[in-house]
Amino acid sequence: MVDLFLFGIFPYVAVVIAVGGSIWRYVRNQFTYSSLSSQFLEGRQLFWGSVPWHYGIIAVLVGHLIGVFFPAGVKAFNSVPVRLYILEGTALAMGLLLLVGLVILVVRRSTNPRVRMVTTPMDMVLLALLLITVVAGIGVAIFYRWGSAWFVTTATPYIWSLVKLSPDLKYVASLPVLAKIHAVAALVLIAVFPFTRLVHIVSIPFAYLWRPYQIVMWHRRQVQ
Ligand code: HEM
Repeated sequence: MVDLFLFGIFPYVAVVIAVGGSIWRYVRNQFTYSSLSSQFLEGRQLFWGSVPWHYGIIAVLVGHLIGVFFPAGVKAFNSVPVRLYILEGTALAMGLLLLVGLVILVVRRSTNPRVRMVTTPMDMVLLALLLITVVAGIGVAIFYRWGSAWFVTTATPYIWSLVKLSPDLKYVASLPVLAKIHAVAALVLIAVFPFTRLVHIVSIPFAYLWRPYQIVMWHRRQVQ
């Protein structure tokens, strides 16, 4: 019954809130689609937090996506034990790297008086949710080896069953509680996405790659 709600219904609720909320926020005020960087208030801790966090989270997210889109490739890659160990070792190292970055970001937001002035309760909720998701994910990686091997035979078919609008709960039924906490926390993150700083993920200024550079011209009145 709990599984039915958490893994059969809640994923759709989360996606509907994420899409609806993102459109609502964009229509209401598109200029808030930003990470609202606080670099001008504090730069040192931000560097040591933000850089490992972003390198780590992007690598780990791409890893999850490879597992979802190329399960056969991951299985073939992992069929040679040394490759499995290298993959798992790299993924765990990335997880620990992003955890260190995240902890520094949390400490910065809660202790630096200048940064605290611009920190909303939602910023702290977001960081707490990220921390729960990350700690549970690293816990799964450490206690239930080898995640990349069993992910493609449980999470991948479950996610595709969701996409096909017929959730197959048999894939999640036997997952350890820690893995369920990791998945549910990630779903909550999807649901709160539009109401947090996370919106900056979809507002990367890619247009800078092809748009002409900006020419700034001074237009001063001539001195008589
Ligand atoms: C896709 C490329 C991404 C870019 C270009 C990017 C860029 C930024 C920038 C510029 C900031 C402001 C802080 C700073 O100046 O470093 C920031 C903050 C943040 N980013 Fe990203 N980001 C990306 C992806 C992500 C992803 C995938 C996540 C999480 C799933 C994430 C989570 C965060 C969080 C939580 C903060 C706030 C940190 C704080 O408390 O100050 N970002 N990001």
